[in-house]
Amino acid sequence: MKGNLESALKIRDMARRHNRLFKESIPLIASENIMSPLAMEMLLTDFGFRYAEGLPHQRYYQGNEIVDEMEDYTIDLLRKLFRSKYADPRPVSGTVANMGIIYGLTKVGDKITVPDLSGGGHISAAKFGAVGMRGLDSSSYPYDEDTMSVDVDGARKLLLEKRPKVALFGQSVFMFPAPLKELRDTFQEVGCRVWYDGAHVIGLIAGGRFQDPLREGAEILSGSTHKTFPGPQHGMVMGECEEPVWKSIQKGLFPGVLSNHHLNTMASLAVTAAEMLEFGEKYASDTISNAKALAEELHSLGFRVLGEKRGFTESHVLAVDVSGQGGGKHVAERLEKSGIILNKNLLPSDKGKKSQDPSGIRIGVQEVTRIGMGKSEMKEIASLIHRSVVRNESEEKITAGARELKSRFDEVRYCFGKLKAYEYIEIMKSQ
Ligand SMILES: Cc1ncc(COP(=O)(O)O)c(C=O)c1O
Repeated sequence: MKGNLESALKIRDMARRHNRLFKESIPLIASENIMSPLAMEMLLTDFGFRYAEGLPHQRYYQGNEIVDEMEDYTIDLLRKLFRSKYADPRPVSGTVANMGIIYGLTKVGDKITVPDLSGGGHISAAKFGAVGMRGLDSSSYPYDEDTMSVDVDGARKLLLEKRPKVALFGQSVFMFPAPLKELRDTFQEVGCRVWYDGAHVIGLIAGGRFQDPLREGAEILSGSTHKTFPGPQHGMVMGECEEPVWKSIQKGLFPGVLSNHHLNTMASLAVTAAEMLEFGEKYASDTISNAKALAEELHSLGFRVLGEKRGFTESHVLAVDVSGQGGGKHVAERLEKSGIILNKNLLPSDKGKKSQDPSGIRIGVQEVTRIGMGKSEMKEIASLIHRSVVRNESEEKITAGARELKSRFDEVRYCFGKLKAYEYIEIMKSQ
């Protein structure tokens, strides 16, 4: 008994240490974010302990009256936010959203065109991910290293040659909009379903920035709800398609790849959607201008920031070639020891290189923006990175600088209510 209690408390201690780690670090992972107080509260409700398989008002279990009300409300909020005909808030992650779409829209052996992995494509669109699991015949668009985007002429040629059932766009390293408008005529000529995976940029899209895929030629929009969209770890799908297509996607989700859909995170997603309707435009704009500011500062300090010809980035993310500073693995690990958390990343020029030893790092500014950092703090971050990986200053010195900078920014912004970030357990205990 005593040993087991100690084990349970040890886990709580790990959670506290983890909170402290993030409280004291500069968080620059492009796929993460922190939540608002109201969204956080939803995670700790009884919604989290219940089942509601299926669609609202067509459930398999009793006790879902209020869940139905909440899910209907969530759908309406998402339809309003993304100006879409349909929305489904059930996927429990971006990958599950993608699996459901693939399952609903395709059969084994169907053709799909996807972004290339070395051009920032995600594993769920890879042969060894969900696309491969469904047994699809996939081909990837060529990538243009000059524009840091899908090569438009190459993509057009591929679409006309393969005539895929589904054309998928959207990457994990996604600095510039996908060329939907440019390829719109080709989509029509081929007659393919056009699906935009906005996992990374969907918070920017919600804020009316980056691009507007459902008005530019895509009929399906999927995403994670915890990257630039600052909500819980969950997923969502929006549709601007014909009803039979939407019904197939919903069947792909349930009973295809979901059973229950984690009702507390769905409620939390709904709160975040309401907050994005209120604050999303400003949050998206501030995030993008911070990303540009950080890119420009790193560039002026001598770093090889990709996408220079197009102003480095139009989103929350930037990619930096650090092969001259020891490579992505070395740089990411050195920065981690110095209180700056980001990840190593393959770059388009890394053909044949292992993903564990790439040339680049990926930097996202959506979380530091969320806690109130602005352009002058982007300069401070660039300077810390430069002092660490170019001037080789000690880990202790850089850690102290990172902590000092972070200590000035600990409140979650762009939301209703006030919350001190990274201190959730302490706050719960004091209530
Ligand atoms: C383009 C893309 N699609 C899908 C996903 C998967 O999202 P999740 O982590 O929510 O499963 C990611 C995650 O980074 C992504 O970058």
